[in-house]
Amino acid sequence: MKLEEIKKKIKEVGEKAVKEISTISEGDTEKLERWKVKYLGRKGAVNDLFTSLSLLSSEERKEAGIQINALKNKLISAYEENKSKIESKREEKKVNLSFPGKPPETGAFHPITLISREITTIFIKMGFGVVTGPEIETDYYNFGALNIPDEHPSKDVWDTFYIAEKEKILLRTHTSPVQVRIMEKVSPPLRIITIGKCFRRDDIDATHSPVFHQIEGLMVDRGINFSHLKGILTHFIMEMFGNTVKVKFTPSFFPFTEPSAEVSMSCNICKGIGCSTCHNTGYIEVLGCGMVHPQVFRNVGYNPDEFTGFAFGMGIERLAIIKFGITDIRYFFQNDTRVIKQFN
Ligand code: DAH
Repeated sequence: MKLEEIKKKIKEVGEKAVKEISTISEGDTEKLERWKVKYLGRKGAVNDLFTSLSLLSSEERKEAGIQINALKNKLISAYEENKSKIESKREEKKVNLSFPGKPPETGAFHPITLISREITTIFIKMGFGVVTGPEIETDYYNFGALNIPDEHPSKDVWDTFYIAEKEKILLRTHTSPVQVRIMEKVSPPLRIITIGKCFRRDDIDATHSPVFHQIEGLMVDRGINFSHLKGILTHFIMEMFGNTVKVKFTPSFFPFTEPSAEVSMSCNICKGIGCSTCHNTGYIEVLGCGMVHPQVFRNVGYNPDEFTGFAFGMGIERLAIIKFGITDIRYFFQNDTRVIKQFN
């Protein structure tokens, strides 16, 4: 190779490198580093030029060598300059105290927690205590002790999650077994509520979920009658939804209460006119209740001739849907903070 050719190449490499570095946008460290490898790296263009020196005579080599070194220094300083711009930009960012800070992610209470706390507060004010019970139950507590017969459809494997079918261990289908557990331990009088998860083999849709929450209440003493039940539950609903709400008791059936009733309240979404939430009836069913069946008392060793009591149970998701106007039960379980954060 001739000296002239190498000189031409040095010029070309220099021009190309300067042109390329000028197109690298500020802060694009990745591109800058690629540029460095291409021109100043071990197998880069500048080193290639040094290698080609071996083709020249020693006189020529000296001349070309000086030029290549000059090019190398020029490219190094172009690189340094670009890099220091990035660094100083970063530095600037670091110390710019006028920038608004990033607010830390804050949590929020889940609507189920909010409703549970509200319900608990109302009942505590009426002298109820709060108890808990296991989510894994035996057939006896979930069904038998509550006077639910063996042939009852809720005992079917298609309705209940059995953990060990032979041993009759299951995920509780309601919170009512806690009534039995507490009565076995405590003698009357008693006033308790319990809140917790329940499980049923329901397919997920807008109104069903295989996991849901219930609140259960129980009051037992001498002389407790249906008017106590009506008074307490009406007060509860009015505290929860405002005292303009209308409360309706309708006869119903549960194996563990006699008589039994369903309680509905005027639909607070359409104000009783009729809408899809209340199926155009103007009322929404909110809970089941009744006077504790004498057989349940006998099962726990209470004397039904001496004591009477009432019990009730309701779905918390349902109350939250009514209270917050949430249209789909699935929102409670999707972990979407945009939904959850709205109600705090
Ligand atoms: N356990 C019932 C259910 O899950 C609800 C219920 C109804 C509970 C009447 C009660 C009651 O305590 O008295 O459907």
